[in-house]
Amino acid sequence: MPVPIRKAIFPVGGLGTRFLPATKSMPKEMLPVVDKPLIQYAVEEAREAGIEQFIFVTGRGKTAIEDHFDHAYELQTMLESRQRDEALAVVKATIPAPGQIAYTRQLEPLGLGHAVWCARNFVGMEPVAVLLADDLILGKTGCLKQMIEAYDDVGGNMVAVMEVPEEDISSYGVIAPGDVQDRLIEVRGLVEKPTAAEAPSNLAVVGRYILQPRVFEDLGRFERGAGGEIQLTDSLARQLGSAPFNGFRFDGRRFDCGSKVGFLEANIAYALDRDDMRDDVSRILKSFC
Ligand code: G1P
Repeated sequence: MPVPIRKAIFPVGGLGTRFLPATKSMPKEMLPVVDKPLIQYAVEEAREAGIEQFIFVTGRGKTAIEDHFDHAYELQTMLESRQRDEALAVVKATIPAPGQIAYTRQLEPLGLGHAVWCARNFVGMEPVAVLLADDLILGKTGCLKQMIEAYDDVGGNMVAVMEVPEEDISSYGVIAPGDVQDRLIEVRGLVEKPTAAEAPSNLAVVGRYILQPRVFEDLGRFERGAGGEIQLTDSLARQLGSAPFNGFRFDGRRFDCGSKVGFLEANIAYALDRDDMRDDVSRILKSFC
């Protein structure tokens, strides 16, 4: 059995320019889908998958994220005195054990690969998961838990993948697929943001990764890729041949919460998934159609 995954990296340093002015002073990862910030969905997904240590790679203006995963004594005392037990439980559920979350800053926006590299000293020599909070995945079992179950059989590097339409492919990392076994697809190549003509398939990388620690050496070479940024996919592509590398076709529906339409779609889907909101929201949606 491969080395278990105990740690996860959450790159949360991005500026969120697509959501201005909402994200002028609020981190984009704190945008709520229904009533929960995006970053909390990602942390809960990691926890469900057995992750014990959470490493946030943040940046300036992101302190609201740290406050979110901390006590809010004034609020808690007020909820306690008013016996608002349910609300109190919701607030307390966000608080990790002391030392379970570590924060480091990316300092400069040099790309996803650089953000992940910034977490290297917290990771050490063990495999690690990476979750991008922008990619929200609704399903019975969390995407990372599904991946780790598959990883326990095959080890190596792994990326979540899904089919995307040709006109969207240039927004993603794209795999060149090899042998397929159930939900696992052997990765034979990986290209970051190819044109539709260059794309080796329609299988795009979604923001869930399992990385072997060797990738940090390559990330530390700071080779620039698409958009002049240090790309995680490029370093992963250079690991081909040194360890098994698989795409994992997850069960669930993914929402691109880095785009306005995807974010709105996620809010609708998550509201319709909730017993306390489904009827009202369906009625409202029907009234628009
Ligand atoms: C990042 C990755 C890309 C991946 C995507 C998934 O791109 O670089 O490989 O397909 O996330 O959301 P970004 O969306 O940060 O440009």
